[in-house]
Amino acid sequence: MKKEYSKYFAPSLKDARKRVNKDIKNIIFDVPESLVGLGNNLKYHIKTYGCQGNLSDSEKIAGILEMLGFTYVNYDEEADLILFNTCAIRENAEDRVFGELGRVKSLKKTKPNLILGICGCMPQEEKVVETIKNKHPQVDIVFGTHNIYKLPEYLADAFLKHERVVEVYSTEGNVVEEMPVKRDHSHKAWVDIMYGCDEFCTYCIVPYTRGRERSRQPEDIIREVETLADDGYIEVTLLGQNVNAYGKDLDREYKFANLLADLNKTKIKRIRFTTSHPKDLDDETIAVMAKGGNIMPHLHLPVQSGSNVILKKMNRKYTKEEYLEKIGKLKKAIPDISLTTDIIVGFPEETEDDFNETLSLVNEVGFEGAYTFIFSPREGTPASKYTDNVKSDVKKERLLTLNQLINEGFAAGNKRFEGEIVDVLVEGTSDKREDIMMGYTPHNKLVNFPGGLESVGRIVKVKIEKAYTWHLKGKMINEE
Ligand code: SAH
Ligand code: SF4
Ligand code: F3S
Repeated sequence: MKKEYSKYFAPSLKDARKRVNKDIKNIIFDVPESLVGLGNNLKYHIKTYGCQGNLSDSEKIAGILEMLGFTYVNYDEEADLILFNTCAIRENAEDRVFGELGRVKSLKKTKPNLILGICGCMPQEEKVVETIKNKHPQVDIVFGTHNIYKLPEYLADAFLKHERVVEVYSTEGNVVEEMPVKRDHSHKAWVDIMYGCDEFCTYCIVPYTRGRERSRQPEDIIREVETLADDGYIEVTLLGQNVNAYGKDLDREYKFANLLADLNKTKIKRIRFTTSHPKDLDDETIAVMAKGGNIMPHLHLPVQSGSNVILKKMNRKYTKEEYLEKIGKLKKAIPDISLTTDIIVGFPEETEDDFNETLSLVNEVGFEGAYTFIFSPREGTPASKYTDNVKSDVKKERLLTLNQLINEGFAAGNKRFEGEIVDVLVEGTSDKREDIMMGYTPHNKLVNFPGGLESVGRIVKVKIEKAYTWHLKGKMINEE
């Protein structure tokens, strides 16, 4: 059966690059009364790829779906609606989605009423929308990162009118408040503090897929965190692509440090945040972090490279020396801080010397973990046009060498807690055993210890007996 399009609005990366100077308004989420009940007796399944921003968006999508009456199922074979919330950051992320899509669309053979949807960062690229249109006509709904709030309307087109819809906006819209959220955890929660990114690192697609930086109003964030604390949540992670740029677009003098200081006064027991940009991490933020309290002594501070030549080509707007100076300030203010990072190897024209600069920086900082990547050219970004002259096996070798060093740092970061008593927010049982519990310390170290389900969702004291590369093992000594 060939379906018509109810709407066809495709994206343009070129338009997405523009930063239009228009007022961002806060709008309140609303669903037409007539659509509530649309999902009654229907089941949904969401596959989420990419960063915490996408995990957070998926929780909102799930919230909308449940508001409409849909129920969640863990297996896609049982679903009437399958949504892919996708990531465009590297080519292999996209390949995985197309691979899965190929498998899932075959489910339509036995279930012709199954509705398939794709959203998130991939549909923000025109090339992806073209591929879906030409090679995967089984996909019924395509939307992007800026119009999640319109999902009820798209579902009505697909389920009631039996039409297909493609609607992707290239420029950001307003900040939508009061979207329903179905959270994945009952003790820790994501809290978006801003959307978009204005940095334009030359390798990165995010400023094109997520639009310009828009901060939520401080009151809305503080209210959300207070409500979470009242509802029994222990930990929040504040989300933004560059949280240190928070507030720059607000119509008052209120920055990330102000927000942290205000959240420091709330009842929530643990605050984390990601991601920080080294250029914008300021002394005020370090000072608030140093006060401790509910702000956790861990910072993820992506450096990307240790070579000034490469950092310049990446448009990161700091030097190795400036990065190290900030690390020095952080260590002085928070002596036991745990630092992690992101690093890209094999950036165009990265020489052996450039790579050695990265290794020396890693040694000097003593990172206790890192996400490491091989450069992946993204169409539409400046770096995709640079001469990619580093041979593939050299890139792989650099990644291996770097990972070895990072793993040593991971192990050393764990080792320093042997014999210590640490606070663990217990999340559940370990993957392998029902009688072993797992959770995280303030420094974000994974701890396993023998125990029962009654500790889940609580902060307990654990004496660390042994450190391994990826986790710590200990015994619970008493409860909070
Ligand atoms: N906003 C965050 C994270 C963005 S994406 C930040 O600025 O750090 C997460 C990580 O993916 C980046 O830190 C970077 O290390 C990596 N990344 C982004 N684009 C990439 C590309 N084209 N190829 C390889 N890695 C990339
Ligand atoms: Fe991408 Fe740079 Fe923005 Fe991070 S700061 S999302 S790496 S452009
Ligand atoms: Fe991926 Fe989009 Fe996040 S590209 S990393 S899901 S902002």
